Amino acid sequence: MIVANWKCNGSKAMIDAWFNTYIKDSEESNGVFIGIAPPTIYIERVANIAKKNSLQIKTGSQDVDISSGARTGAISIEMILDNNCYFSIIGHSERRELFNENNNDIRQKIIKTMDKTLPILCVGETLADNKKNLTKDILREQLEVIDNLEFKNELVIAYEPVWAIGSGLTPDPKDINEIHKFIKDVVQSITNNSANPSVLYGGSVNSANATSFFSEEYVDGALVGGAALDGSSFAEIVNLYNGIKQQ
Ligand code: PGA
Repeated sequence: MIVANWKCNGSKAMIDAWFNTYIKDSEESNGVFIGIAPPTIYIERVANIAKKNSLQIKTGSQDVDISSGARTGAISIEMILDNNCYFSIIGHSERRELFNENNNDIRQKIIKTMDKTLPILCVGETLADNKKNLTKDILREQLEVIDNLEFKNELVIAYEPVWAIGSGLTPDPKDINEIHKFIKDVVQSITNNSANPSVLYGGSVNSANATSFFSEEYVDGALVGGAALDGSSFAEIVNLYNGIKQQ
């Protein structure tokens, strides 16, 4: 599973150019989940171009609000479904940091989406936590937002160390593998029906380092920011994933 998180980037012209290079360079093969979370205002455009070109790409949202109605600027789950989104990223560290989302907000968003669309819950420690060897404690705390929930549909967790996002730094692939196993174990132990999530790695993934992550047993894919803004480099990451995980 490879998911692009475009964050607050892009324009109509960028999207058209993105698809031209993506279509030229991608070797899409059946079965791999390829997703794009564009800025909400462009979701429909991305979905239409993907459909017109018979691409496997599924669209998703970068966030979802806990409710609807008098909440200026918010996007509700009903609107996301109305736009045929397949997934919603929830609890990204930029939402936590810049928009003050806490674990309680994130739990409400998960509850809102879990039976309707595929939630991709983001977790990750800061550099200070990492240096103090608190990574697992922080992750366990962040995963508590799904404590006692029952996931009838799929659940995806994205492990995104805050210090790796957009920095060019990444943990050692072996450490990522160990953390992914830990995340799977925690999720199984705290959810009501022992949910078995896919776990994506995110944080400075690019076409030069993707193979090192995809070669690890418990890495089920990637959530890609900066390198996903270019159709050609995103296609290359998808191709690498296909080559390693779909053998
Ligand atoms: P990055 O972002 O690939 O630019 O580090 C990843 C993310 O924030 O999801």
